[in-house]
Amino acid sequence: MVAREIALRAGVASDAVPLTDLYLRSRRTAMPWLPSVHDQAETLWWMRQIVLTGQDVIVAEDGHRLLGFAALDGQWLEQLYVDSEAQGSGVGRALLAAAKEVRPGGFSLRVFTRNTRARLFSESLGCVLTEQSDGSRNEENEPDCTYSCAPVALPPGMRPHPDSGRCRDGDA
Ligand SMILES: CC(C)(COP(=O)(O)OP(=O)(O)OC[C@H]1O[C@@H](n2cnc3c(N)ncnc32)[C@H](O)[C@@H]1OP(=O)(O)O)[C@@H](O)C(=O)NCCC(=O)NCCS
Repeated sequence: MVAREIALRAGVASDAVPLTDLYLRSRRTAMPWLPSVHDQAETLWWMRQIVLTGQDVIVAEDGHRLLGFAALDGQWLEQLYVDSEAQGSGVGRALLAAAKEVRPGGFSLRVFTRNTRARLFSESLGCVLTEQSDGSRNEENEPDCTYSCAPVALPPGMRPHPDSGRCRDGDA
């Protein structure tokens, strides 16, 4: 994939429709095995009323169109999605770096265990596995991994997973 110009800005209300489309497209392509628990209308409501209203949203674009977005809520990176066609060209790396600037004290993120690409992405950018679950805590009932992306040090009381920071498939 060719390197591209990536501009970053804060998300605004008028991003709701294109970000919803991007989110659904990216999710479907990256995780075809994931059950779809919300339809397009519900997802648009959530994007408008929850994500863009209550979270710190960073949008990546190239001057022509949206490439991806990140959304932080407190100490959690709740969303990180790059459009399918734009993946592998540094957009996710740019969004993660911007999230670290917005939360210099660090943050956590959750990745479905089967989402190997996102786990490799997180691990290659210095995030450390801290927890694995059997999926009972998420709507999709899909095992997931929690990573801590702490620029300086892990928060007090939080320790790296003993397995050298690598999440194992189906091992929740
Ligand atoms: C996971 C995701 C955000 C990564 O974004 P991206 O723009 O494709 O990633 P980048 O091009 O910025 O890659 C940054 C680094 O991550 C690593 N990486 C990315 N994809 C990888 C892969 N398939 N295998 C191994 N390492 C990978 C590499 O180290 C890469 O650096 P390099 O290009 O210098 O080698 C993106 O693929 C995505 O949106 N996936 C679908 C949604 C999703 O899974 N979200 C959860 C994210 S936690």
